[in-house]
Amino acid sequence: MTTRQTVPNNMDAFWMPFTANRQFKKAPRLFVEADGMYYTTDDGRQVLDGTSGLWCCNAGHRRPKIVEAIAKQASLLDYAPAFQMGHPKVFELAARLVSLMPPGLDHVFFTNSGSESVETALKIALAYQRQRGEASRTRLIGRERGYHGVNFGGLSVGGIASNRKFFGTLLAGVDHIRHTHDLARNAFTRGQPAYGAEFADDLERLVALHDASTIAAVIVEPVAGSTGVLIPPKGYLERLRAICDRHGILLIYDEVITGFGRLGAPFAVDYYGVMPDIVTTAKGLTNGVIPMGAVFVKKEIHDAFMTGPEHMIELFHGYTYSGNPVAAAAALGTLDTYAEDGLLTRAADLSSYWEDSLHALKDLPHVIDIRNTGLIGAIELEPIPGQPTKRAFSAFLKAFEDGLLIRTTGDIIALSPPLIISKSEIDQLFAKLGAVLRSLE
Ligand SMILES: Cc1ncc(COP(=O)(O)O)c(C=O)c1O
Repeated sequence: MTTRQTVPNNMDAFWMPFTANRQFKKAPRLFVEADGMYYTTDDGRQVLDGTSGLWCCNAGHRRPKIVEAIAKQASLLDYAPAFQMGHPKVFELAARLVSLMPPGLDHVFFTNSGSESVETALKIALAYQRQRGEASRTRLIGRERGYHGVNFGGLSVGGIASNRKFFGTLLAGVDHIRHTHDLARNAFTRGQPAYGAEFADDLERLVALHDASTIAAVIVEPVAGSTGVLIPPKGYLERLRAICDRHGILLIYDEVITGFGRLGAPFAVDYYGVMPDIVTTAKGLTNGVIPMGAVFVKKEIHDAFMTGPEHMIELFHGYTYSGNPVAAAAALGTLDTYAEDGLLTRAADLSSYWEDSLHALKDLPHVIDIRNTGLIGAIELEPIPGQPTKRAFSAFLKAFEDGLLIRTTGDIIALSPPLIISKSEIDQLFAKLGAVLRSLE
C-alpha cells in the first residue's frame, strides 16, 4: 500500500460537479486508492463499490492490462493530431469495437465523454438528414426523465427539470415523448415491466403535431439510468423502432451506461434485439480510467457523407482529443480485460442471483418499488413529506459510513456494481444496504 494522502488543507477552490458542495466540504468523503471491488478512503477504510464509480468501472479497479497499456502508450506516442493525421491504435480500436456490435453499426466516431457522444450523435443525425435531401428534418425528440449529459444538445433532449431550468431556452425545435415509469401497474417487476409498450405511441402524437417531415431523430436510453433505472416495458423498443421506420425518423440509443456488458450482453442493442441507427457510448469504454466516448453509426449514414471531392472534409465535427492515443490504449486494455474475464456477458450469469438478493429487501421500511435488469438494481423510497431526496441522501451517507458506495437520484437508490462482483460480495452489498434501510427515518 502506498503512502496515504490526508485531507487537503484547502477545499475551497474546487467547485465540485453535481455535488452538495457545502455539505461535502463540512464532512469530506475522499477516496485515495481502489482495487478490484473496493475503494480505500483517506482514513483507511474499505468501501465496497456498488456503483462501478459512476457506472463506468465495469471491470473493477486498477486492472493491470489497462494500467500497463496506458503507461506503455504514454511513453511511446503521447499525442497525435486528431485532424488530418492518425495513429495505429485508434484504427485498431475502432475495428475491434465494431466487431462487438451487430453487423450494420460499423463505423465509430470518437469523443471524450458521454455528453460529447450525445452531441455528436445529434449532429450526425441532423447532418445526415440534410445530406440525404431531407433538410427540413431539423427537430430532435427526447424523452421525459431522459439523461443525455450536460451539454446544450443533451440537456435539450434530456428530460430532467432540475438540470434544464437554469439554462434558458436550450435548443430550439426539441420535443419529448412521455417517460415509461408506471409504478401503479409495474411496481416490483423483475426485469422488463409487463405494461407500457403503448407509451411508445406518444411518438405518433408528436408526429401528428409537428409532421414527420420536420423530425430528424429520437434519442432514448434503452434503460434510463440517471433518473432511477427505468427499464423499457416489454414491446416498447420494438414499437418505437416501428414508428421511427414508418416516418423516416432515426432512432438513437444512448448506451452510455448500458454499453459494455451492464445488461449481460455487450450492448442493449444485442440484449433487446432492436436495432437503432446510432449508438452513443462512453464510461465502460475505457473502464472509466481515461475519458473517452464512441458513437457507432450505421453504414448508410456514414456512407451518405462520403461524397464530393476527396480532398474535402466530409463532416465538420471533431475534438482535439478524439481518439487520443493514450485513451485508445486504455480502451484496448479494457477490451482485453473484458474478453479475458468474460465480462461482456457475465451479468447474464449473475443476474438471477442479483435479482433475488435485491428483491429480498422488498418489505423494508419506506420501499415502494424494486426493479432490476442485468447487473442494475433500483430501490425507490417513499420521500419524506416536504423533503424530497433527503431520505435517499441519508441512505447514501449512512451506506458510505458503513463501507458501501451507492448512488441516489431523487429518492431512488441505484446500484450498478463492477461486473467482476462475486456472489459473496453481492451478499455483503445487500446485507449492508438492508441494515442502512432499516436504520432510516
Ligand atoms: C445515458 C447517459 N448519457 C450521457 C451521459 C453523460 O456522460 P458524461 O458524464 O460522460 O458526459 C450519462 C452520464 O451518466 C448517461 O448516463
